[in-house]
Amino acid sequence: MNLIVAVSNNYGIGKNNGLLFNLPSDLKYFKAKTLNKVVVMGKKTFLSLPKRPLPNRTNIVLTHDRSFTALGIIIVHDLNELFAELEKYDSDDVFVCGGAQVYNALMPYCKTAFVTFINDSAPADTHINNLEENGFYIEEQSEMLHENGLDFSFAILRNPMPKSFQKGQNETTFSL
Ligand SMILES: NC(=O)c1ccc[n+]([C@@H]2O[C@H](COP(=O)([O-])OP(=O)(O)OC[C@H]3O[C@@H](n4cnc5c(N)ncnc54)[C@H](OP(=O)(O)O)[C@@H]3O)[C@@H](O)[C@H]2O)c1
Repeated sequence: MNLIVAVSNNYGIGKNNGLLFNLPSDLKYFKAKTLNKVVVMGKKTFLSLPKRPLPNRTNIVLTHDRSFTALGIIIVHDLNELFAELEKYDSDDVFVCGGAQVYNALMPYCKTAFVTFINDSAPADTHINNLEENGFYIEEQSEMLHENGLDFSFAILRNPMPKSFQKGQNETTFSL
């Protein structure tokens, strides 16, 4: 399983239930990575999307609310239901795409994180856990890029020991 996120310095990811930055090349990168794949998100992120569900992707939305419905998405109510649903897909095709509650809960299960590091300290009200403090290491990182007055880079981080979502199974064989 993969995680894809854009973070500011100190891992800020959002404010007022929206994104922190307007970075068209990051949106393009997100689209290129996730198109025709499976995206997993929390209800707040789903409801914040300007166009929902994300087109040409299998959208899986987490909510505890059993009365919540929306067209064109798969709804799951807890991590067990999510993991059962994810059995249907190739784990390399699954992308956790926010928000903080969902990133933080699923981070340990992800093998790869596609992270856009934005060199900016804009105030955020939503942060995720520091990936490098949670076992991930940077495998690749682009040069510094510039757009809309922001400096940023695209990085690929790996988690050498992703957790299995099936109890008692060998992590390296069954990790997402
Ligand atoms: N920078 C980025 O790359 C990026 C990407 C995505 C989102 N964001 C930002 O992140 C912010 C939203 O993040 P957030 O943490 O507030 O919300 P979120 O993770 O998007 O959604 C939280 C909601 O998801 C449901 N949920 C979460 N964990 C669950 C679980 N284990 N089982 C069942 N339901 C679960 C709950 O819905 P119910 O309350 O209905 O139960 C919860 O209230 C926004 O500012 C958004 O713009 C940033």
